Amino acid sequence: MNPNLCKTLNHLSLEQLSQYLNIELKKIEEYYSELLDDSSFLIEINDRIKQSRKFYQNAIFKHEELDSIDWFAIQRIILYITVRIYKPSVCVETGVFYGGNSCFILNALRRNNFGELISIDLPSKQITSDQRHFLVGDKEDIPKELDTGFLIHESLKERWNLIRGDSLKEIPKINKNVDLYIHDSEHSFHFVQQEMSLIWKKLSDNAIIVVDDLDWSNGFYGFCVEKKIYPLIITDNGKSGLRARTGIVKLGHPLEKRVEVVG
Ligand SMILES: C[S@@+](CC[C@H](N)C(=O)[O-])C[C@H]1O[C@@H](n2cnc3c(N)ncnc32)[C@H](O)[C@@H]1O
Repeated sequence: MNPNLCKTLNHLSLEQLSQYLNIELKKIEEYYSELLDDSSFLIEINDRIKQSRKFYQNAIFKHEELDSIDWFAIQRIILYITVRIYKPSVCVETGVFYGGNSCFILNALRRNNFGELISIDLPSKQITSDQRHFLVGDKEDIPKELDTGFLIHESLKERWNLIRGDSLKEIPKINKNVDLYIHDSEHSFHFVQQEMSLIWKKLSDNAIIVVDDLDWSNGFYGFCVEKKIYPLIITDNGKSGLRARTGIVKLGHPLEKRVEVVG
């Protein structure tokens, strides 16, 4: 990865976000700077990388130490910024694994001094490789010495509620309005559609939806067409080969329900 090119591309993605959300670019850039300048968060991340590298050295754990938050995918930065902007009361995340997205949401909630993150993942010790989507490699198995969310520092866990179970069984039990939902569990067409249909009933009027790895199936696009919701598509800025990776929807967007823009 070329950090300078990545930064330039991140700025382009934030411009798109600003236009889509109709939020001043200056405000979005301020939150990006706040995150980049957050030395305590970087120390916490590096501490967890150091501890976890004894047992796991893939993904971000390939590095012994990070010199900048820019090493992370733009999706995580966007999650931080949207939580800072909208100050959600209830965030729901499906698919935690080492907790990359969770760290950024929890850091923003800590700054807001408000809100909670409910994360849902299968019990780590019970997952076998053949239960995973065929595109997921064994590299996503959690070593026995580590637990789900192993990148999340203890000091970030105050606003965290981890539910160990199947998202399709656990989402119906959530008894709260959900203001932000991030899907990063099973990306197959039917699973994405089922999970999104379940969370749909819980979302508050102006909720934010974020869907990772949307290019693994047509589940996200199909759902947007069905519900006539208008998405923003963000690339991963080279981290995984410049894929169209993250779908974002703000409910109540002015283009929502306009048949001609969504099919
Ligand atoms: C790509 S990883 C998540 C990465 C994580 N969001 C991050 O930012 O580091 C996918 C995760 O989805 C979880 N998963 C797969 N099927 C699931 C299901 N039915 N319910 C809940 N979680 C599931 C897997 O156990 C795995 O941890």
